[in-house]
Amino acid sequence: MNRPCSLLNVDSKMEIAESTTEEAVASPRTTPVEKKAKQDAWDRCVCDYINPVVDKVRRRPLFQKVIIANTTLIVIGAVMGLYLEKRYFDQGAVGFVGLFVFSGLALSILVNYVLVRLAFRPLDDVAEAMKAIRAGHRGIRVPEVTDDPQMEELSKSLNAMLNSLDSQRKRAAASVIQAQEEERKRIARELHDETSQSLTSLIIGIRMVQEVIPDTMPDLRERLKAINEQAHETLNEVHNMAIRLRPSVLDDLGLSAALRSYVKEFIANTGIAVNLQLIAVNERLSAELETVLYRVVQEALTNVARHASARKCQVTLRRKESSILGIIEDDGRGFSPQRVMMSEDQGRGLGLHGMKERIELVGGSLEFESRPEEGTTIMLEVPLLIKEGIL
Ligand SMILES: Nc1ncnc2c1ncn2[C@@H]1O[C@H](COP(=O)(O)OP(=O)(O)OP(=O)(O)O)[C@@H](O)[C@H]1O
Ligand SMILES: [Mg+2]
Repeated sequence: MNRPCSLLNVDSKMEIAESTTEEAVASPRTTPVEKKAKQDAWDRCVCDYINPVVDKVRRRPLFQKVIIANTTLIVIGAVMGLYLEKRYFDQGAVGFVGLFVFSGLALSILVNYVLVRLAFRPLDDVAEAMKAIRAGHRGIRVPEVTDDPQMEELSKSLNAMLNSLDSQRKRAAASVIQAQEEERKRIARELHDETSQSLTSLIIGIRMVQEVIPDTMPDLRERLKAINEQAHETLNEVHNMAIRLRPSVLDDLGLSAALRSYVKEFIANTGIAVNLQLIAVNERLSAELETVLYRVVQEALTNVARHASARKCQVTLRRKESSILGIIEDDGRGFSPQRVMMSEDQGRGLGLHGMKERIELVGGSLEFESRPEEGTTIMLEVPLLIKEGIL
């Protein structure tokens, strides 16, 4: 039968905790080190103890570490040099002393190189974190535990700055998106209430004139017919524009109805076969969430039509217990999301950044998976309970 393994845990302050594997995570009892260490036999010893002198040197700033290392080397070199000179130089062993000088130099360069490399390792982490943040992983932070107090201070300040920039950016993005939605709503309402009404009056007027024109004026009749058709087309365009700007069905009937209607129009306009699967999302969601999900699907499908040369596309939204999962997949030409997201070109990637931004503002996450010639998949997850008043 397996018996629990007994552990001797020596922590960084040289205090001892005894435990078995079963109770190790619970609350190990601590005992003074001298008393306990000798009297029992232990299966394993877990030691986090570092000699205080080594620890003190390790936690010095880089400048002091270099001074300490070089002073030690110079002192050792001077003592050894004096000794060797006395012993061998007088006997003519110049080559041997030269070898000593050369080794000392090599050792000094090596020690300084290792020290500086180790000291600058946290900067590599900073560079990695910055690269990831630029690629869109905005939640990434620099590791704060380092051996160098100055580096520790630097990484802490950097993380604090990233946190504050992140919340400022979120607030700014939220107000821009909110203003954009309000403006779209206003223009859609104006198009519907003003422009559509005027066009409808115009069409009625044309019809009335058509009725009173005598059959003896066929040219005029033809002209009016053409004008009437043009007015009808313009009315349809205005109507579609208002829907694209802000479909009233999104406010009145909710996300499912708005997406079904959008996808139907998309298929008719582009000829791309879209399979829309809405699983358990018939119930109304919060207005913010519905707007965000609608805009993301809209942008994703617009991209499919503009860039993908795809034949088919699958859009799935599935409601889980506390979140909504979404997948938008096409079989088109694909692209490199990392290259687009990190592109310096100000105009590029606005749509992709906008999608990510909107989803992150409601506490969700969104990833692009695509490679040239291998189609594109967008995966997202948003929590159902979002903080009030984000959008
Ligand atoms: N589904 C896709 N298939 C292939 N390439 C895509 C797809 N989605 C995006 N891309 C590529 O990513 C680039 C950036 O897309 P993004 O939506 O950010 O900008 P855009 O569509 O060019 O302009 P807009 O800001 O008007 O949306 C596109 O120019 C295109 O090259
Ligand atoms: Mg786009």
